[in-house]
Amino acid sequence: MRLCILGGGGFRVPLIYRALLADRAAGRVTHLTLYDLDSTRLRAISRVLAQQAAGVPDAPAVEVTTDLDRALATADFVFVAIRVNGLEGRALDERLAVQEGVLGQETVGAGGVSYGLRTLPVVDRIARRIAAVAPDAWVINFTNPAGLVTEAMSAHLGDRVIGICDSPVGLGRRVSGALGIDPATAIFDYAGLNHLGWLRAVRVDGQDLLPQLLADEDRLTSFEEGKLFGAPWLQAMGAIPNEYLHYYYFNREAVAASRAAVETRGAFLLHQQREFYAAVEARDGSAFDAWDNARLERETTYMAENREAVGAGERSSGDLESGGYEQVALALMRAISHDDRATLILNVRNRGTLRHLDDEAVVEVPCVVGSDGARPLPVDPLPGYAAGLVCAVKAVEREVIEAATTASRAAALRALAIHPLVDSVAVAGRLLDTFQAHFPELDYLR
Ligand code: G6P
Ligand code: MN
Repeated sequence: MRLCILGGGGFRVPLIYRALLADRAAGRVTHLTLYDLDSTRLRAISRVLAQQAAGVPDAPAVEVTTDLDRALATADFVFVAIRVNGLEGRALDERLAVQEGVLGQETVGAGGVSYGLRTLPVVDRIARRIAAVAPDAWVINFTNPAGLVTEAMSAHLGDRVIGICDSPVGLGRRVSGALGIDPATAIFDYAGLNHLGWLRAVRVDGQDLLPQLLADEDRLTSFEEGKLFGAPWLQAMGAIPNEYLHYYYFNREAVAASRAAVETRGAFLLHQQREFYAAVEARDGSAFDAWDNARLERETTYMAENREAVGAGERSSGDLESGGYEQVALALMRAISHDDRATLILNVRNRGTLRHLDDEAVVEVPCVVGSDGARPLPVDPLPGYAAGLVCAVKAVEREVIEAATTASRAAALRALAIHPLVDSVAVAGRLLDTFQAHFPELDYLR
């Protein structure tokens, strides 16, 4: 099987390669093509992969290219993991939003809107190329904001594009740990949009174990989401939200923390990665060690601002190594290519699953996956508190898609102004002006 990664010079590619190296099953990936705009980054990542492959028999062959059509031509699976404007763009979104007193996070709030407006024209071109050059390939989207990007790509690729995120699995794993069960034996009733979902039940042999966890305050606050949200709020909802909902439920604290921070998450990662790529380019020490050290530092500091804002303490060590999205991606590829039925939480078109949304809306829900792709499983309806937010944020996503497809500045303004985390139309107007002033990629909005 042949896998192609768009954004192949990206920092997380060795995580995927590690999962590929560990896969000894028949029909595994034997060829990996890395496509990127930046050949320096491709070279650096190839060095890390070569070190990972040393001594592994039949390690997947790696090829690098800066030619998109060539990368796509022979692919059975395409991973889309790009970052328009790189980490510079992420850091700038954060800084400009924070200056206006709102969040600049890459997937949530004003920052997510700006990032989406820059990203959609690029993924639209990519989706058209895939449809033309590799119409039979399965496309797995990692590019954030993942739900929005997957929905935009589905206009060209239909159900052949599937979006993934590691946060629902991570939540399932942590809740299982607190319950003392093996996550493989449980059915997780999780639903919403990407980075905006709720775990409402954990069923083992037909019995929902979540109520007993919610009732036990010590166990409930023993893991990341319990610490972030606190027992009273989880008990009031009767559900455990995705960690990204912290930006909504504790918005004032999150904004205050981002204003007080010495540097934003994007700026921190920008500096860290500049150093990493430069060190590998200069052959300064082991490429793999440089990568692994940077990876661990990145994991340790993940969502540190949110944890600090509510005194949640350090990240648990179990969350640093647990193998997130590459495992979901591998399980998804295997299920499709071997018709090996698996249930995974994925971003797919709604098709009636969540009754508040239309059929084309991309949602994040448990799906059964086989050779015919991913089909959403029925879930309990969203409770009112969740449905309200899901509909509000989907309306924002739709405005972003309209802005990108019709080059409409008015739609972009609506996207910012109606976002639940942008508290004034005046702020939305100023944000759009500043985003356009700093990103030539937004010149298309008229
Ligand atoms: C989680 C999210 C991803 C996101 C990543 C950001 O894994 O699910 O969507 O890309 O965190 O982490 P970072 O280290 O870039 O802040
Ligand atoms: Mn994610």
